[in-house]
Amino acid sequence: MAMASSAELMQAEADLVRHSLGYLKSMALHSAVKLGVADALHRCGGSASLPDLLATLPLPPSKQPYLSRLMKVLATEGIFVAEEGVAVANGGDGATCVYHLNTMSRLLVNDAGINGGSAWKLSSCILMTTTPQIVGSALQLGQWFQSDREATPFVMANGRPPYGVAAHDAEFNSAFNEAMAADSRYLADLVVRECGEVFEGITSLVDVAGGTGTMARAITKAFPHVKCSVIDLPHVIQGVSAQTDNVEFVAGDMMEFIPPADRILLKYVLHNWSDEDCVKILTRCREAIAHGEKEGKVIIIDEVVGSRSQNILEAQLLMDMQMMSLFMAKERYEQDWNKIFTEAGFVNYKIRPILGVRSVIELYI
Ligand SMILES: C[S@@+](CC[C@H](N)C(=O)[O-])C[C@H]1O[C@@H](n2cnc3c(N)ncnc32)[C@H](O)[C@@H]1O
Repeated sequence: MAMASSAELMQAEADLVRHSLGYLKSMALHSAVKLGVADALHRCGGSASLPDLLATLPLPPSKQPYLSRLMKVLATEGIFVAEEGVAVANGGDGATCVYHLNTMSRLLVNDAGINGGSAWKLSSCILMTTTPQIVGSALQLGQWFQSDREATPFVMANGRPPYGVAAHDAEFNSAFNEAMAADSRYLADLVVRECGEVFEGITSLVDVAGGTGTMARAITKAFPHVKCSVIDLPHVIQGVSAQTDNVEFVAGDMMEFIPPADRILLKYVLHNWSDEDCVKILTRCREAIAHGEKEGKVIIIDEVVGSRSQNILEAQLLMDMQMMSLFMAKERYEQDWNKIFTEAGFVNYKIRPILGVRSVIELYI
């Protein structure tokens, strides 16, 4: 093979530097969420110069000179927009640069007046994926690949699996549940907008492993005729008020029993489990819809890997690594889904890739 040109070598080396320091992008985003940069820009009307941003952020004077460097990285990664790229490409203290919110950073704003009246607060998802427990499990991946032990990278780092840590560590439990609630707020709005018809004409729905009930509450708000039950583990249900807005909570194990209903929802649940466990869960779901009043369906909101969009595919493959590291589970291609549906006794399914990284899958007997 011909020797690479100097230009190719230098480009390749720059790419290696970018990849090896890629974790600093996560940490820059984590820092921006901790500081509330998106909220500060929102308070300033969506744009602010660096001095204006500094005036509204809770930075001690000793750290203020460093903010421009954080903002340059975030703007380079497309999380905020730096006006005309001036502060990014040029040196200086960035005092003249104006930063703007864009679609991505608006997702991080906590104020209810954002996104047409919906504060999804996806900042909680950033805080969860950058907890020491989850970052710690990623740090174990290299050693995990070399070892013949069964423990997952998450267990190697934390001594217990994720739901075990959540049951014992209130801070991790609340970071996890707040992230899932934020994701549900965002996704419920999108689902109602893009495919609300899946909830039309039904009377009952069980949100299996539905966390603290955010998705169920959004469904009953949009479709008041639907009565929802949420089943989840006791440490998650604990503290959620027993009966609110047509939603009831059941502390239980979905492997054992799922109450009967017209629709069973599994949002971001099956990617936490092995194929064998998915077949078990889906078999319980099939039994539950067989006893419902209407022709039953299971609605799965999860990833179907293989998007043609490079960004979405990258997000799907990174989530797949995350599932491997946390649960020894995976994101699935259509052929993987097909296999577990058949084994659980379902004959028909329809995949709608309408939620970006995720799809809506309707499963029926
Ligand atoms: C990734 S979260 C998804 C939560 C919710 N569906 C959402 O998307 O916001 C997975 C959920 O599964 C719950 N879970 C784990 N094992 C369970 C079990 N055996 N029975 C019921 N729920 C379980 C967890 O407590 C957690 O709330």
